[in-house]
Amino acid sequence: MKILVLNGPNLNMLGIREPEVYGKSTYKDLCALILAHAEKKQVEVEIYQSNHEGDLVDKIQQAYSVFDGIVINPAAYTHTSVALLDALKAVAIKAVEVHISDVSKRESFRQISYVREYCEKTICGKGFGGYLEAIDYLIGE
Ligand code: DQA
Repeated sequence: MKILVLNGPNLNMLGIREPEVYGKSTYKDLCALILAHAEKKQVEVEIYQSNHEGDLVDKIQQAYSVFDGIVINPAAYTHTSVALLDALKAVAIKAVEVHISDVSKRESFRQISYVREYCEKTICGKGFGGYLEAIDYLIGE
């Protein structure tokens, strides 16, 4: 089982950006948490972050026939990107959408998610734990 964890724009700024919304832990902390969980669950995980929509599309395309599952936090591209939705549909890999904050309780422009149409599950507002829950879902736990 190989899982790709994809993170969109500004998530590399975790710990610095809006700590009242996203917490004080850093992106490095998030990666360490995910990798420790993957090791515990005996699952291979690759983590990738980009601030560029096209890079994320490329990474999803490259996942075709390589990865068995995708955990995606598209960050701001959640609310704008048909390209990410189309890329997920193209590769047809089982995917889970994750948001650190509870987007359902935030601004109206965050209520739209294009990738949600494809993803089997959405996990919001559970902090970094949402990524671990998404991995567990993909491995059938
Ligand atoms: C986010 C929520 C998005 O609305 C925002 O643009 C982000 C992070 C989250 O993880 O809560 O960058 O995806």
